[in-house]
Amino acid sequence: MGLIKNLIVFGTRPEAIKMAPLINTFKKRKDEFDTKICVTAQHRQMLDQVLDFFGIEPDYDLNLMKPNQNLFSLTADILTELKVVLEDFRPDFVYVHGDTSTSMVASLASFYFGAKICHIEAGLRTFNKKSPFPEEINRQITGRLADYHFAPTHLAKQNLLKENVDDSKILITGNTVIDALLESVKRVKEIENNEITYLKSILQSECKLILVTGHRRENHGRGFIEICEALKCIAENNEDVQIIYPVHLNPNVKGPVYEILSGIDNIYLIDPLSYPSFVWLMNESYLIITDSGGVQEEAPSLGKPVLVLRDTTERPEAVSVGTVKLVGTDREKIVSESQFLLLNEDKYREMSELHNPYGDGKACARIVEYVSLKTNEDEIKK
Ligand code: UD1
Ligand code: UDP
Repeated sequence: MGLIKNLIVFGTRPEAIKMAPLINTFKKRKDEFDTKICVTAQHRQMLDQVLDFFGIEPDYDLNLMKPNQNLFSLTADILTELKVVLEDFRPDFVYVHGDTSTSMVASLASFYFGAKICHIEAGLRTFNKKSPFPEEINRQITGRLADYHFAPTHLAKQNLLKENVDDSKILITGNTVIDALLESVKRVKEIENNEITYLKSILQSECKLILVTGHRRENHGRGFIEICEALKCIAENNEDVQIIYPVHLNPNVKGPVYEILSGIDNIYLIDPLSYPSFVWLMNESYLIITDSGGVQEEAPSLGKPVLVLRDTTERPEAVSVGTVKLVGTDREKIVSESQFLLLNEDKYREMSELHNPYGDGKACARIVEYVSLKTNEDEIKK
């Protein structure tokens, strides 16, 4: 049998971070796999930051991002453009990640084409189709289409079994985000880039740092206004607190954030950071306030408590162990929970004790071994 043809497809910042270690692991097995990378570039600058850091050069770059894009045209564009790539490379396996529009549409395109679909970070569920929107439905559709399901945790596997996915097609791997994080934590010690130099110049050692990120579509509008008003209140009530907020480039996020939070002395609104600089800053922080999925997984590994700006989460593992707490987007609740952790050292310490329910840094090795085994069993020809 010739080389197995792998196509790894992704489009946004978090997918790139979580696929980077998988790409590197596959590329080490050139004798067995011909691995090509396709980026839809659903994100542009925020994707390129990650490609640069991990040294990934896409074989296909669809360059699809449009300013303030909508789900309809994005979905249609990805589907049409991927047809050309699939017909050109003719992959045996297509790898998609998580729950973005890129992942859902790439799964559909691969199903139409007839390639086997490998879903990385499979099985996460809130069972609420409006939250997160549209991600919950994106991952349910991807799950229906996938041939192989790489579940990060035991709970994710249970969700798939409940949907009648065949046990033999599911592998519990841990989350590849931990593979990326562990590598980056090592590398970041040697990095001194402009972003880290700037961050060092503004950090005050006597202040507690709160790091903030946010972007979820269901929080656009009222949610973001409440979040920003809460941050303003926390900053004004606590002179010994610094808030650093790398603002997502989505105009529906940037608009309210800059309008409500500009000009406050102890709030720093900055552009999205490159991944190593963000990892560096997470390590420097006292508390993280976010609606991000990836940050919810990374922070417990770094011993940082997280307040999650959402009412639901498909990542309940860290909530159960107590390092992550859901606070939604209610202004009063965000302020009171933050204040509690700023003032209550014992509770803070309890929450920041290292718990990492998401992986051991070996997820990608497990995925590659599994695919290798399946191809040797000749499953691919079935
Ligand atoms: C997308 C994903 C979401 C994921 C998030 C990670 C979908 C529907 N949404 O949401 O699941 O959690 O990425 O961040 O798949 N923009 C830029 N430059 C960039 C990136 C975005 O200018 O590098 C702006 C553009 O105006 C773009 C807009 O942000 O149109 C929205 O991007 P989009 O990917 O549609 O949505 P996100 O909110 O980023
Ligand atoms: N991140 C980054 N720079 C930033 C903010 C976040 O590199 O300025 C990283 C973060 O470490 C995590 C990922 O981006 O790995 C999370 O991306 P995002 O919140 O956009 O998406 P989600 O994880 O919610 O899908």
